[in-house]
Amino acid sequence: MAHQLLKGKKGIIFGALDERSIAWKTAIRAVEEGAEIVLTNAPIALRMGKINELSALCNNAPVIPADATSVTDLENLLQKSMEHFGGKMDFILHSIGMSPNVRKAIPYTDTNYDNFLKTLDISALSLHKVLQSAMKLDALKEWSSVVALTYIAAQRTFPGYNDMAEAKALMESIARSFGYHYGFAKKVRVNTISQSPTITTAGSGVSGFDAFFTYADKMSPLGNATAEQCADYCLTMFSDYTKMVTMQNLFHDGGFSNTGVSQSIIEEMEKAAQANG
Ligand SMILES: NC(=O)c1ccc[n+]([C@@H]2O[C@H](COP(=O)([O-])OP(=O)(O)OC[C@H]3O[C@@H](n4cnc5c(N)ncnc54)[C@H](O)[C@@H]3O)[C@@H](O)[C@H]2O)c1
Repeated sequence: MAHQLLKGKKGIIFGALDERSIAWKTAIRAVEEGAEIVLTNAPIALRMGKINELSALCNNAPVIPADATSVTDLENLLQKSMEHFGGKMDFILHSIGMSPNVRKAIPYTDTNYDNFLKTLDISALSLHKVLQSAMKLDALKEWSSVVALTYIAAQRTFPGYNDMAEAKALMESIARSFGYHYGFAKKVRVNTISQSPTITTAGSGVSGFDAFFTYADKMSPLGNATAEQCADYCLTMFSDYTKMVTMQNLFHDGGFSNTGVSQSIIEEMEKAAQANG
């Protein structure tokens, strides 16, 4: 199903850990659509993950380590990528999320603040660091596109999402604010895609994930969007067909965000009420 939508475009894909990762699927689809890519992840994730497998599937795309909280690492990544491509780039996918509080199952109401700050640094501030480094090094062409992945817990409370909710809210705000500055300065666009619950390492780390995955599926008129479908949406955002879209949070969730309740959920509630007598 390739249309060479990204023919001649060059970009960096952050966050492909294993074949379930949204970034993994996006990397494969971007190359199918004619893009040339550089792959990156945190050094520890590169040691534990399977990125070399992915590189082989992506015309031996270079793999350049970068901890997204380190400006030095990010500048090195951008510089090496431009050397590899022989010039500026057209797109960046920020597909990064991690909360030590979620990982250690520390409740939101008994949070560890050092962990909280790490969550914000890794999952939100990293987008600012990527954008600021790219602007400083003039690494992105005019009309290029930066996409970061987010979740609706930025707008509404999902208790198991913990401090990642604040991280996503901050990240979406950074996309708007930087989108303004980068748009006026260089016509670079910055958007977030708010994806349905998806079974990946980061996704399934959230407590109660299986239940809210099923709940979201039953609530959404089109069902949950898959990682492959999210990858396709990212590609459209990297393409020239979405040139005037910037500073937006784009819901990619089968209609979940605009549904109050679905018939299927009502019927489940009715069944539960009958069973309880
Ligand atoms: N899975 C879901 O249900 C879901 C839903 C909506 C949004 N998202 C978002 O999609 C994005 C990708 O997550 P995923 O579901 O594919 O899971 P994933 O676990 O495959 O990807 C998360 C990535 O973040 C990387 N990362 C963590 N710390 C880092 C650091 N310091 N520097 C650089 N990279 C770092 C990890 O190595 C990993 O590759 C995340 O932003 C996530 O919050 C996921």
